[in-house]
Amino acid sequence: MSTDDAMERPSVLFVCLGNICRSPLAEAALVEVARDRGLDVRVASAGTGDWHIGHPADRRARAIAAEHGVDIGGHRARQVTPEDFYRFSDIVALDRQNFADLEAMRPPGAPASLSMLLDHVPGREGQPVADPYHGGASDFATTWADVVAGARGLVERLVQRAGSSAKRASGT
Ligand code: 4NP
Repeated sequence: MSTDDAMERPSVLFVCLGNICRSPLAEAALVEVARDRGLDVRVASAGTGDWHIGHPADRRARAIAAEHGVDIGGHRARQVTPEDFYRFSDIVALDRQNFADLEAMRPPGAPASLSMLLDHVPGREGQPVADPYHGGASDFATTWADVVAGARGLVERLVQRAGSSAKRASGT
C-alpha cells in the first residue's frame, strides 16, 4: 500500500507492550464501533515487546471479548516495526511507555499520526489504559470499557477527518 492509500482510507495500528491483552481488545473494539458507524477502516495491533510473538491473545482478554460478543481467537501477536509508520495512517499507543517507545522508533518524516488511545476521549487526554496482565477479571473489564470509550472517540475523529478531506477534494 502506498502512503497516499494509507491517507485516503484510515488505517489504525494499536500498540501495547505484549500485544496479547490491551491492543487486541482495542483492535476488536474499533472494528465493532467502526462497523456500527459505517466507517471503512483497516485495523491491526502490535506490541513493543517480542516475548509473545506468534501467541494468541491472553485467555482473559479472549474471555472479556467473548462476553461482549467478539471472537478474538484468531489473533496472533506481532512486534511493531519502523515500517508500520508508513503502513498506517494512525498509530495509537495504549500507555505512556508505549507512546515513548513509538516516538523513539518513529523514522523521521514518516507520515503516521501518533497518539494515545484515551487522547480521543474528552477529559481523559494523556491517560493510559492500565496494563491488566498482572490483574484479574475486573481489570480486564476495565480495559474493555476503556478501549470501547477510546474506539468511540477515535472513530468520531476519523469520520470528521474523512469528511474534511472529502470537502477538500471537492473544493467545497
Ligand atoms: P499487554 O499486556 O501489553 O496489554 O498485551 C501485557 C502482556 C504481557 C506482558 C506484559 C503486559 N509481559 O510482561 O509478558
